Amino acid sequence: MATEDQKHWDEKHAGGHGEEAHSPFLEEIFYKGSWSIPPGRALDIATGRGRNAFFLAERGFRVDAMDISQVALQEAGKVAEAKGLTINFIQADLEQAALPEMTYDLIINCNFLERSLIPKMKSALKLGGHIIFESYLVDQRVLGHPRNPAYLLGHNELLDLFRDFRILYYREGKFVESGKAAYRARLFGQKVR
Ligand SMILES: C[S@@+](CC[C@H](N)C(=O)[O-])C[C@H]1O[C@@H](n2cnc3c(N)ncnc32)[C@H](O)[C@@H]1O
Repeated sequence: MATEDQKHWDEKHAGGHGEEAHSPFLEEIFYKGSWSIPPGRALDIATGRGRNAFFLAERGFRVDAMDISQVALQEAGKVAEAKGLTINFIQADLEQAALPEMTYDLIINCNFLERSLIPKMKSALKLGGHIIFESYLVDQRVLGHPRNPAYLLGHNELLDLFRDFRILYYREGKFVESGKAAYRARLFGQKVR
């Protein structure tokens, strides 16, 4: 476990880092598009305080939710219990963690970028499984955090990273949601081979 990373994120989460409402991108995919994503096994990458894992569990998915921060997972666990949701929270350093092969019907990755994990995410999906991926674009630096280029996607980079998937939705640029602006790339795709 990268203890410095864990300490850093534990401190952030202890200070109340993150949003409570699930990502608007999930609304877009589940309700505004014409896609059907039947409930199955799901993995929430870097779940944080669990907002997106709750969304999936409430819709009948069996969710594994991973994060490096024990503080975030404990908070998420309390909320899940209060909501009556069963979620399998797993503490893991996703810079190094292995993922089980051909296991998930859906993987979501929101506001987290670990490029070395992407081949593992692809292997962890079942054939026909879906990926919902969103993270910050390089342009975000002008607005605020994150600013470290290691955590920012280049233009078209996310699209290129999933070229072997069937791309069902892709958009990158400035999103203004709930009065807040951010530069993001958003992709919804399906494993087809
Ligand atoms: C910006 S938050 C996003 C949380 C969540 N996906 C969401 O959208 O609300 C980034 C998350 O990545 C986690 N994280 C950072 N480095 C990590 C690592 N190496 N392994 C696993 N999780 C990590 C942090 O603890 C934090 O919860």
